[in-house]
Amino acid sequence: MFDAQSYVRPFVLDEAGLTLRVLDQRKLPAAEVWTEPREVEEVAVAIEDLVVRGAPAIACVAALGLAVCVQGFDDDPARFRTQVEAACVRLSNTRPTAVNLFVALREIREAMAAAPGDADASALRALILETAKAHAEGDLASCLAMAGHGAPLLPDEGAVLTHCNAGALATAGYGTALGVLRRGRELGKRYTVLADETRPVLQGARLTAWELQHDGVPVEVIADNMAGALMASGVIKAAVVGADRIARNGDVANKIGTYTVAVLCKHHGIPFYVAAPWTTIDRSLASGADIPIEERNPSEVMFHGKAQLTPQGVGVRNPAFDVTPASLVTKIITETGNFDPGQIADA
Ligand code: MRU
Repeated sequence: MFDAQSYVRPFVLDEAGLTLRVLDQRKLPAAEVWTEPREVEEVAVAIEDLVVRGAPAIACVAALGLAVCVQGFDDDPARFRTQVEAACVRLSNTRPTAVNLFVALREIREAMAAAPGDADASALRALILETAKAHAEGDLASCLAMAGHGAPLLPDEGAVLTHCNAGALATAGYGTALGVLRRGRELGKRYTVLADETRPVLQGARLTAWELQHDGVPVEVIADNMAGALMASGVIKAAVVGADRIARNGDVANKIGTYTVAVLCKHHGIPFYVAAPWTTIDRSLASGADIPIEERNPSEVMFHGKAQLTPQGVGVRNPAFDVTPASLVTKIITETGNFDPGQIADA
């Protein structure tokens, strides 16, 4: 059923693992522009500036980007290892909330640590490439598996709300929440997807709408403040979102505004599903209160393009994520099945 060629991909690695092309998501939907980061700093800035975004995609591009960049690292194995460690530190300082990034970098560090002490630089380069590719392939497999588990939960008709972009663009392909929504349609369900526009960066209006239109999944965009009315009137039957980090108790950090959607769902008796791979679940954190929340540049709120929306001198706040308490989550959909949030710690 899955044909990788027919779905949107946020990055493409060439056969030899020498070039990584990254789709510049800031330019969508107006233009499809690809960049080719070659230096660690370019990979890091691409992540910071949202050229690539979405928890699993950030992790894949960090790992694969590093695998490409190490081609230019020193041939002396000791100096090579030092440069890899410095690169991991730089990449881990890009975005703090999504845990997948730290998982992918840990996999690379562990592979380096496990490599024989006398391994030369070319063996270490091959090892990093293999590790990064395995991470990305694992993410794609997880998305496909969680779609199979999550799709049967969805209604046959009506509208399903999603927030931000947890799609092919945010993963190695197919998507988490949007993968579940795609699979439901493939199974013959006839719902429409409602995409919250997702202020301030508009991942829903720009990215979710673009990729679902690309795949022929019916999608309509709503402003973030419309969801409540559409729940009250019975239009919205369920909500499915992705996650950036899930704590041991099932609390979920995701794009700012997710918490609002979850509260509205609870009030209206509508199921609120979170689709995420196990790489997003951070069992080292007891609760959502421990999840670091990224605060982004106020200009994202103050400006629409070049037009300033807020009066000069007025402050703004721009937390990029919020935490939805486990009590508001109906099920967490993973690649190994659907769980009550309280089951995550022991699953
Ligand atoms: O700031 P972003 O665009 O990286 O935020 C992305 C989200 O919040 C997604 O919902 C989350 O990463 C899940 S992606 C499968």
